[in-house]
Amino acid sequence: MKKTLIAYSSTDGHTIRICEKIKSTIADQSNVTLVNIENSSTTQLEDFDCIILGASIRYGNHKASLYSFIRDNKTLLNSKKTAFFNVNAVARKEEKSSITTNPYLKKFLKRTSWQPDLLGVFAGKISYPKYNFFDKHMIRFIMWMSKGPTDQTKTFEFTDWHKVEAFSKRVLAELLIN
Ligand SMILES: Cc1cc2nc3c(=O)[nH]c(=O)nc-3n(C[C@H](O)[C@H](O)[C@H](O)COP(=O)(O)O)c2cc1C
Repeated sequence: MKKTLIAYSSTDGHTIRICEKIKSTIADQSNVTLVNIENSSTTQLEDFDCIILGASIRYGNHKASLYSFIRDNKTLLNSKKTAFFNVNAVARKEEKSSITTNPYLKKFLKRTSWQPDLLGVFAGKISYPKYNFFDKHMIRFIMWMSKGPTDQTKTFEFTDWHKVEAFSKRVLAELLIN
């Protein structure tokens, strides 16, 4: 059975949920290990056939640790089957939800010059009650600017789980079974 590493870069945990969904979809046909990218220095990347990275956006950016992981392991990543997906609030909008139209994915690909075999974009989740004062007001302003929901007593999940499932099936078909 082929081995898959799913490494996540997440602040509030939603990207981890997406990674877990991918894991559950492919686990029958691949041996899957899930790790936080920030604690992955002891992971033997060369042991895996397939490496999937999932990362969320905060204040317009991915975490620096995502970029350092890619920089430090570029040669190895290029020798494996790879997938990358990002998670952000802007992707809730139809016109910004695809791999060619999501501004953060375009920026990421340009900045890293990495070309994963498979790409994905998923809309995330806004949990107003969970955030601290500063983040709550900042994301509320961002949502107001982009005509999103601003009720700070509520949680809004925008993720299309069918899209996550379809992505997982492509991982199986295109990266693991050949
Ligand atoms: C403080 C804060 C800032 C955010 N900034 C952005 C942003 O600039 N653009 C965007 O599309 N989404 C933004 N988001 C939405 C997150 O990408 C979304 O909540 C995602 O689900 C977070 O995933 P995580 O829980 O794995 O960190 C922001 C969320 C928070 C709480």
